[in-house]
Amino acid sequence: MNNVRPESMERIATEALANAFIEEQIAAVRAQVGDKKVLLALSGGVDSSVVAALLIKAIGKNLVCVHVNHGLLRKGEPEQVVEVFRNQMDANLVYVDAVDRFLDKLAGVAEPEQKRKVIGAEFIRVFEEEARKQQGIEFLAQGTIYPDILESGPVKAHHNVGGLPEDLKFELVEPLKFLFKDEVRVVGKALGLPDNMVYRQPFPGPGLGVRCLGAITRDRLEAVRESDAILREEFAKNGLEGKVWQYFTVVPDFKSVGVKEGKRSFAWPVIVRAVNTKDAMTATVEDVPFALLQHITDRITREVAGVNRVLYDLTPKPTGTIEWE
Ligand code: XMP
Repeated sequence: MNNVRPESMERIATEALANAFIEEQIAAVRAQVGDKKVLLALSGGVDSSVVAALLIKAIGKNLVCVHVNHGLLRKGEPEQVVEVFRNQMDANLVYVDAVDRFLDKLAGVAEPEQKRKVIGAEFIRVFEEEARKQQGIEFLAQGTIYPDILESGPVKAHHNVGGLPEDLKFELVEPLKFLFKDEVRVVGKALGLPDNMVYRQPFPGPGLGVRCLGAITRDRLEAVRESDAILREEFAKNGLEGKVWQYFTVVPDFKSVGVKEGKRSFAWPVIVRAVNTKDAMTATVEDVPFALLQHITDRITREVAGVNRVLYDLTPKPTGTIEWE
């Protein structure tokens, strides 16, 4: 299969070029799949969302989107996938609530790479089960983009639902495989996807699982999710949303002593991380205004159960990685 971007391909930077690309891909997908069914793992991230929107235009209900909620998504994300794709775009969307399954499998698993393996393997298992429930699938769509093919950086490849058993090795449909990220966003916008889906910051495949350090527990996972939602809200309100490359919270698996309403507390800290980078190989720390950090600290310690401190991570990459696990 040809995996080199044609030299003649213009950089898609305008709506007109995006529309031309969309028309071209609609024709190509129809020529490839005819009236057969296509399966897509739709995480709600930029790439799989753009593939979904494009294929819905090309083949409508012959695209079967499977959204696996593994419990490690950010606050509001599974709901938004259902709202945008099922309610607004009338997609054929299978929503799988696999939260208990994943959290049960992850119970007691503390080693970071092992956690990734458990999450990846369980994802394949859930996806395989859903694929088997469908009749007549002949193709698998993937949100592969050009940097995934070039393997240019440490952003781990996450688009391939490799690992499916032999009898489920469908022919691939990869309409974005020659696009760079900025082009995917322009195409997504032209397809009518909401801004907070198209311009969203990178999010690791294992999701909040690598930000709830050590063995994941439901209460600490909720603390990660709620504190992340507060951070995102405050960054959006204060004009940092489009400016900072990646920002999130981390909750470690230890507690410290504090005092709340005159009583001793023994609770988790929340670590805030906000970094800028071009390619994720190196990163610098965002100089977040101190008053905003104080306000975020105030909100997190008041609103998030089980938390009594907030720390700001001042470490560039190197020596720290962007994620903590
Ligand atoms: P690190 O932590 O290695 O992260 O500095 C670099 C970039 O990669 C993202 N990341 C991941 N993405 N699966 C992914 O799809 C993963 O397991 C994973 N780990 C880290 C991270 O969020 C950052 O953008």
